[in-house]
Amino acid sequence: DRGSLAERVAAQTREVADFPFPGVRFQDLSGVYAQPRLVRDLAHALAGAYRGRFDHVLAVEARGFLLGMAVAQASAKPLTLCRKPGKLPGPLHTVSYDLEYGTDTLQIQRDRIPPDARVLVVDDMLATGGTLAAAEKLVTAGGGRVCGHGVVLEIAALAGRRRLYPSQVFAVHTVG
Ligand code: PRP
Repeated sequence: DRGSLAERVAAQTREVADFPFPGVRFQDLSGVYAQPRLVRDLAHALAGAYRGRFDHVLAVEARGFLLGMAVAQASAKPLTLCRKPGKLPGPLHTVSYDLEYGTDTLQIQRDRIPPDARVLVVDDMLATGGTLAAAEKLVTAGGGRVCGHGVVLEIAALAGRRRLYPSQVFAVHTVG
């Protein structure tokens, strides 16, 4: 069930202080990926949360690729990759978004998302929500619509869920 799945994620999540920068508390999910049954169960939980409501999966580089592929496999839906600049050959859709210091950019290939596809956006983690908000803009630019976002871990204090509103977010596990 969802409660025990959250506990299994918590048991495999390691919080690292001051990484990669002073003042940042890094959530290291490496232990999750070392547990094949946990990854499988996470993929089914994320796909199940949106069952019947999506026909396409978008995965965000880099850590989101791991889970995005698992969700695509679990649901037998096509997968599109959302990547950082300079990785995908064009033509592309590009969105830049603000970070605490500076900006970041994400891209998808034009014509990967079928017209009006209902897209489930998958990443490992929701922090400020900037990444998933950018991914959602790319889906819209690509002619699809986001049915919701699915993550393993949500950092509630950063209020990313509010930034993504009214889009739905399903998180298996939440930390403060
Ligand atoms: C991390 C994480 C999410 C994003 C969440 O990715 O994998 O994609 O940050 O943060 P946000 O909600 O504040 O946008 P990162 O940019 O570190 O890249 P990586 O997956 O390539 O390591």
